[in-house]
This record gives sequence, structure tokens and C-alpha cells, in this order.
Amino acid sequence: MSPSSQSRSSICVIGGAGYIGSVAVEALIAAGRRAVVYDNLSKGHRAAVPEEVPFIFGDHGDEALLKKNLEKYNCSAVMHFSASSLVGESMKNPLLYYENNVIKGLALLRASSAAGVRHFIFSSTAATYGEPVSIPIKEDDPAIPTNPYGNTKLAFERMLRDFGGMCGMRSVSLRYFNAAGATERYGEAHNPETHLIPLTLQVAAGRRSHITVFGNDYPTPDGSCIRDYIHVADLASAHIQALEYLENDGETSVFNLGNGKGFSVFEVIETARKVTGCDIPAEIAERRAGDPAILVASSERIKKVLGWQPQYPQLEDIIASAWRWHSAHPYGYMPERKLPEAARR
Ligand SMILES: NC(=O)c1ccc[n+]([C@@H]2O[C@H](COP(=O)([O-])OP(=O)(O)OC[C@H]3O[C@@H](n4cnc5c(N)ncnc54)[C@H](O)[C@@H]3O)[C@@H](O)[C@H]2O)c1
Repeated sequence: MSPSSQSRSSICVIGGAGYIGSVAVEALIAAGRRAVVYDNLSKGHRAAVPEEVPFIFGDHGDEALLKKNLEKYNCSAVMHFSASSLVGESMKNPLLYYENNVIKGLALLRASSAAGVRHFIFSSTAATYGEPVSIPIKEDDPAIPTNPYGNTKLAFERMLRDFGGMCGMRSVSLRYFNAAGATERYGEAHNPETHLIPLTLQVAAGRRSHITVFGNDYPTPDGSCIRDYIHVADLASAHIQALEYLENDGETSVFNLGNGKGFSVFEVIETARKVTGCDIPAEIAERRAGDPAILVASSERIKKVLGWQPQYPQLEDIIASAWRWHSAHPYGYMPERKLPEAARR
């Protein structure tokens, strides 16, 4: 794509009011690109979208509304962050996940193709692999998800590849491991929060009494699970590079996106104690069903093909950025006065 046609077109960030999408929008603007955010605010926050970026309130399953806006803003590419993404909830309510991530995903793909979108970047997940056969996990390892969330993400990856191949829309599916950290303006404000780092920081901030460690008898050096944490700004930069790769005729691809280093639950808690200077009591509970001992990505393929490199690979830097954001935004994107009394304490 020529620089002049790039400057006229926009990138539609679907789910751009959410945690990772908001940081991707920030990165797009910093890269001199035009962005449009499309989000139904089921989980996201209007305040996480910069004033200067057009915002469309809509569901990604609303094919007509999405197509109309993709055309209106002359969108050459879609970044698709919008999904239902809680593993536990997907086990209790699998149909919700098939509905939002697959059925409505079909409408999103049809709207994108009908509006002439040529490049598509999809937020996939490590959950597509299920129980790993070896560590670090490589893209060609078996993908056998162990929960409906992973099944629906893998289903969308396959739909995207098959449908894109038919209609000439090339794509990159990025299989994120654990997104963490914050930029100065945008951070993690999920409700309910289920991720280890923000939960640990809520203990440091006095919003929770303790952090629960699910299992201390795994076959790992300290007995707790090991996960791969990647800074959200490093995720965002990978999106920009994936976009440029597709614009330069890169072929449809799947890339892992992780730090390449694993950190145990106890290491995360200890690092959070160091960063915050707070005690952070931890309590041990039973293992959770379906939690593999170790999940660490090989990100060699994305480094080789896109030239991507994480800028914030140190756990301490990742947690420190999250702590700065949470300290500056103790109520997330919500003004304090809107919270119930109990949540203000
Ligand atoms: N956070 C992680 O660690 C992680 C790890 C792996 C993969 N992912 C994937 O990355 C993506 C973004 O994750 P996140 O943590 O930023 O999630 P998030 O919940 O903060 O953001 C998702 C956004 O999508 C919107 N949305 C959901 N369904 C929609 C619909 N039908 N129509 C329009 N908007 C809709 C929500 O309102 C929200 O703003 C998700 O697809 C998730 O599966 C996240």
C-alpha cells in the first residue's frame, strides 16, 4: 500500500475501548495512523478512547452498522479485539462464547469483506493450545483447547483463514499469552478482574485482604504455576508491525506473542511486594481444574518474520507500570463518586 493511500485510510479497532485495544489505538495514533473505535461497551470504557478518535457504539454482530462505518471511515484494516474472554465463564456458559466469538464473528467477517477491508489482525490466545506438549510452545504444536473460550478463538482463527483465503483478505492471528502492565494513560480495568497482576495490586492498594495462590504442588521450582507475561505496549507494537507486514504483502500467518520468559505466581507476588513496598498476604488454595503447570511461548517466529522485539521484558518493569496506572486511577475509568460505598473503601 502506498504512503498516500495509507494516510487516507483508517484502521477500525473493534473492541478498542477495552484494555489491549485502547493501548493499540494509542500506538496507532503515535505511529501517525488514523483509527476508529467500534465497541459495544459491554466490558470497555468510553473514557479509554481518546477524544480525537471517532467512536462508534455498536455490536460486532451488527453487520449493517459495522459495514456502514467501515465504508464511512474508509477502513483498509480491522484489528479485532472484541470478544468474551473469561475461561471460567466460558465453562459455565459456553453458548455465550460461541455466540459472541463465533456466530457474531461471522457477521464481522462478512461486513469487513463487503466493505473492502483487505487486512485483518485478530487477538487470539494461548488458550488455543490447551495442555502443552512441550515448552516453550511453538505455533506448529498441537492446538487442542481445553475450554470453550479456547475452542471459540481457534474456530475464529480457522474461519478467518478460510474466509479470507476465499475473499482476498489477508490476516495475522496473534496468540497472546498473559497481557499485563499499562501505559501512562491506559491500563487494565476489567470487571470482574481475574488476572493475577491487577488482583495482586488490589491487595497492595488495600482493596482486597489477600491474593489466592491456586496450587503450590506443581512440578515447578517453587510449586506454583508459571506463566508468560507480556507488556501491553509490546502487544500493541506487534499489532503495528503486523499491520505493516500485511500492507507489504505479507501472507496470512499465526504468531505467538509472549515474553519468552516464564514467571511463577510466587515470583509475581514477590515482585509486586518489592515494587509497591506493601506486604501482600498470600493464601494457598486447591489447584484449579485445567490449569497447566507451565505456559510459556516461543516468540521466535514473530521476531524472525516481523522483526518484533519486546521492549519491556522484565517482570519488575511490567508490574511497576501497572502499579503507576492503578495508583493514578484507583477506580479504573470510573469516577469515584459513581462507585457504591463498599467499593470506595
Ligand atoms: N487480556 C489478556 O491477557 C488476553 C490474553 C489472550 C488473548 N486476549 C484477547 O485479547 C482481546 C482483548 O482482551 P482485553 O483484555 O483487552 O479484553 P477487554 O474485555 O478489556 O476488551 C474487549 C472489548 O471488546 C468489547 N466487546 C466485546 N464483545 C463485543 C461485541 N459483541 N461487539 C462490540 N464490542 C464488544 C468490550 O466492550 C471491550 O471493550 C480479547 O479478544 C481476548 O480474548 C486477551
